[in-house]
Amino acid sequence: MGQPRNIFIGAIKMEDYEELKYDVLVIGAGAAGMRAAVAASDEGAKVCLVSKSLLGKAHTVMAEGGAAAALGNADSKDNWKVHFRDTIKGGKKLNNWRMAQIHAQQAPERIMELERWGAVFDRTKDGKINQRNFGGHRYPRLAHVGDRTGLEIIRTVQDKVIHQENIDILMECTVTKIFAENNQAIGALAYYRNNGKLVVIEAKAIIVSTGGIGKSYRITSNSWEYTGDGHALAYLTGADLQDMEFIQFHPTGMVWPPSVKGTLVTEGVRGEGGILLNNKNERFMFNYIPEAFAAETAKSEKEANDWLNGVEGAMRPPELLTRDVVAKAIMKEVEAGRGSPHGGVFLDIANRRDADYIKKKLPSMYHQFKELGDLDITKEPMEVGPTVHYMMGGIRVDPETSSSTIEGMYSAGESAAGLHGANRLGGNSLSDLLVFGNIAGYSAANFAAKCEDLTIHKSAIEGAIEETLKSFDNDNTEDPYKMHAELQDIMEKHVGIVREEKSLEEGIQKLKNMEKRLEKLKTTGGREYNPCWHLCLDLKNMVITSLAVAEAAKERRESRGGHTRLDYPEYDEILGNLNIIIRKGPEGINVIKSDKDKMPDDLSDYVAKEAV
Ligand code: FUM
Repeated sequence: MGQPRNIFIGAIKMEDYEELKYDVLVIGAGAAGMRAAVAASDEGAKVCLVSKSLLGKAHTVMAEGGAAAALGNADSKDNWKVHFRDTIKGGKKLNNWRMAQIHAQQAPERIMELERWGAVFDRTKDGKINQRNFGGHRYPRLAHVGDRTGLEIIRTVQDKVIHQENIDILMECTVTKIFAENNQAIGALAYYRNNGKLVVIEAKAIIVSTGGIGKSYRITSNSWEYTGDGHALAYLTGADLQDMEFIQFHPTGMVWPPSVKGTLVTEGVRGEGGILLNNKNERFMFNYIPEAFAAETAKSEKEANDWLNGVEGAMRPPELLTRDVVAKAIMKEVEAGRGSPHGGVFLDIANRRDADYIKKKLPSMYHQFKELGDLDITKEPMEVGPTVHYMMGGIRVDPETSSSTIEGMYSAGESAAGLHGANRLGGNSLSDLLVFGNIAGYSAANFAAKCEDLTIHKSAIEGAIEETLKSFDNDNTEDPYKMHAELQDIMEKHVGIVREEKSLEEGIQKLKNMEKRLEKLKTTGGREYNPCWHLCLDLKNMVITSLAVAEAAKERRESRGGHTRLDYPEYDEILGNLNIIIRKGPEGINVIKSDKDKMPDDLSDYVAKEAV
């Protein structure tokens, strides 16, 4: 560990901090960050992996149903091109085509590699990795471990990380500032959550893999770490954010009891045959099949049952339409008064599969409902409704290297934009973070190897420390808990599952007022294990990212994937070829429209031909 240093502001000793020096700093220790750390260390870099929580506790575990990769084990017709097509179609063609291609091509190898590292996937009868159906994937494609796939993946990569040379891990440590000089990232300031001590980490390359922003919303599947840290840190350093308007509402979160509202109910339930019903016992998804998916979706109970019974060539049931479609259908049923008693709809697997099958394939769901809701899913339907699950937008990255628009700064996983376009397919997240975690780690290490040492100016460190500690100022008055609740109200009301101009403008105004009030946030208590202080710091990130989401949502005057405008309900052809970029300017957020990379003709013809 490095040497403690003293900082003085004027004549007053302000703070001690520890100093560390690495080739590559990885911020965020979900599977993307850990996979990046392994790749960087394989390239010979000395790596620092910073984890906001305890190692292995990251939100990756919330991708339960599986990792999408065209292994072709459950249906030999599958291959990378079909996976590419499905991803582009699911993303409503706003995806970065090259990221989608790299992802589809490299995902199978990343899954096989996990197996070599010790992951124990469910098996087909002939001993291959088993694959299950999921929304928007034409073939059963999700390598899975019951409904605990994220957990198995994080366990496996973590095991690899801790046996790797050259990776130091800072646990329960949160980064509050990324330092940059001449548009190049050179290090970060962080604090240890347990004792409040500060650490300055100099690094030649930085990988941001901090996940999403769900905690800006009240109803979310996301865990406490998901406060948009990486998005905000990158933005404040000058990096471009892209397509922040696209937020995924997973169709099925728990709606009851209130204390667990939003907790994920895996899409695996529908992948294993579960159906959605309204309070009239109608299988309503037959009424919501979009034209683009009509030729590949079952339109009657009989057709859907053929699929359940494994009839060759049967079409997928409408419950496996993409998440944006299913979430909005549920919302409409509830609005029309056809919802369940607690404001959702019913998800029934009990009448579709026998109890042993359910317990084997969906063990966590069985226990989750039993323990949290006193409900036996092998006997009764669940009540479910949309929950904020995933951020498609994020840090703009180069598809080949995962580098951001700031030199030496990379991003992988949910904090990066591009792969998923306007809507992510379930299962593509786990393979995304393995594929692009690997690429980011490799690129960052190679950048660092060529990079000269740069020193962080003392004045920059002093400024960052002052900012990190400012909520301890006695004159401050704003209660962070109240402000957080207020923020969640604003986001639910003005930037929710459906949006419109006037309401977005109101929301933006409220968020801008809140941004000013951040200065006055007050921490009560000291620096050790103080969640009040942590929330003051997290709130800044949440407000910045929320504003970015709202501004981008206002600018995209069309409906596409995870972004629905009541006042612009259709696709707009011009906007469909543009990314919305959020960039920090002297007066605050700049919103810029930028041409999307054009897909080569051969791939675009393939997508058009296949996208029936
Ligand atoms: O429903 C789920 O199991 C979530 C998976 C994902 O978001 O990829």
